[in-house]
Amino acid sequence: MNIRVDGERVAAELATLATYSDAEPPAVTRVVFTQTDLEARRYFTGLCADAGLQVRADPAGNTFARWPGTDAALPAVATGSHIDAIPNAGRYDGTVGVFGGLEAIRALGRAGYRPRRSIELIQFTSEEPTRFGIGCLGSRLMAGALDAAAAARLTDGEGRSLDQCRRDAGFTGALDSVRLNTGAYAAFVELHIEQGPLLERDGVDVGIVTAIAAPAGLRVAIAGEGGHAGAMLMPDRHDAFLAGAELALAVERAARSTGSVDTVGTVGVCEVFPGAVNSVPSRTRLEIDVRDIDGERRDRVLAEIAAAADAIAARRGVRISREVVNADPPARCAPAVVEALTRAAAGAGVRQQAMISRAYHDSLFMSRLAPTAMLFIPCRGGVSHRPDEYASPAAIAIGVAVLARALADLSA
Ligand code: GLV
Ligand code: MN
Ligand code: MN
Repeated sequence: MNIRVDGERVAAELATLATYSDAEPPAVTRVVFTQTDLEARRYFTGLCADAGLQVRADPAGNTFARWPGTDAALPAVATGSHIDAIPNAGRYDGTVGVFGGLEAIRALGRAGYRPRRSIELIQFTSEEPTRFGIGCLGSRLMAGALDAAAAARLTDGEGRSLDQCRRDAGFTGALDSVRLNTGAYAAFVELHIEQGPLLERDGVDVGIVTAIAAPAGLRVAIAGEGGHAGAMLMPDRHDAFLAGAELALAVERAARSTGSVDTVGTVGVCEVFPGAVNSVPSRTRLEIDVRDIDGERRDRVLAEIAAAADAIAARRGVRISREVVNADPPARCAPAVVEALTRAAAGAGVRQQAMISRAYHDSLFMSRLAPTAMLFIPCRGGVSHRPDEYASPAAIAIGVAVLARALADLSA
């Protein structure tokens, strides 16, 4: 089969997609169920319809574009990723897997291939935790890893519920119908930028992912005592921000204490109330992200952070409440799909290497439903979640070509 991939076309589509953004270019911000997100979704589904795919969406807004196979009764082979983007992000995270997946299907069609199993392209809702505080919302619901009633009650920063937001966006129907049965798909493959430096540094074209790290998210609320920044004496203070600052350093210490590069801890959100230069902070809110490829080691870090929070609260006379938003187990990729990707990369004549994913992805949850693996392509400097994130059209074309071969193999 002569598979010809149009990397420039994908790059041009990604450039158009990047115009659906609430940030100044080159930054991209696309938060789930905003007008911008809905317009981007319409752009994507329009391209899918142009490609002759059958498009539908579930009540969570997960969107499916199907190329029917000759034996449509068999479970389909699926590919896809997300198009939401965190604030001040770039244009390639997730989107390469969605638009690259579309180009893989178009390339297979141009090559005259007809799949026996249907091939389904999935655009997952809210892989990013930006709006509702928890990542992989769509795939989490599909895998039954998040109860539909609990999901409906999630709220955004303005107190609007997920249920209302998705209905306002036009996704109605019962949320519990989003859940799929194990075996709903014969296989799932996600193409994604690496978001790290290894492939570029080692001069390798594609990474075949064998495992995905275990992420955990914590929300911490600290209540101290506010007051006048001039008049309140230092020995009398119960400064909520300083307690938060100490806790942030404890997160760093706990993550470093494992001695493994695979353990990482980040405090990415810190809100100080009332946020006035002449006012002692009375409240502070932190959001903490801890990950490891080893779930038990990650949980030991979480326990260390909890103990540090208790000690800081007692010593500083503040109240610290903690909520574990998610503490997901790591995923092992399925050997059969890893092998299909390995064969595909060899068939395409490109350099490949096995690797783990330190970022999480919808594949973390799809692996509970179907044999799953991921395909990484290099991104410049390993940079991601930043406006200068970049993957070249040539790198994208190689990833799409390998994906197309793997989809052909798995759907034959
Ligand atoms: C996904 O964007 C992640 O934070 O790993
Ligand atoms: Mn991301
Ligand atoms: Mn992503």
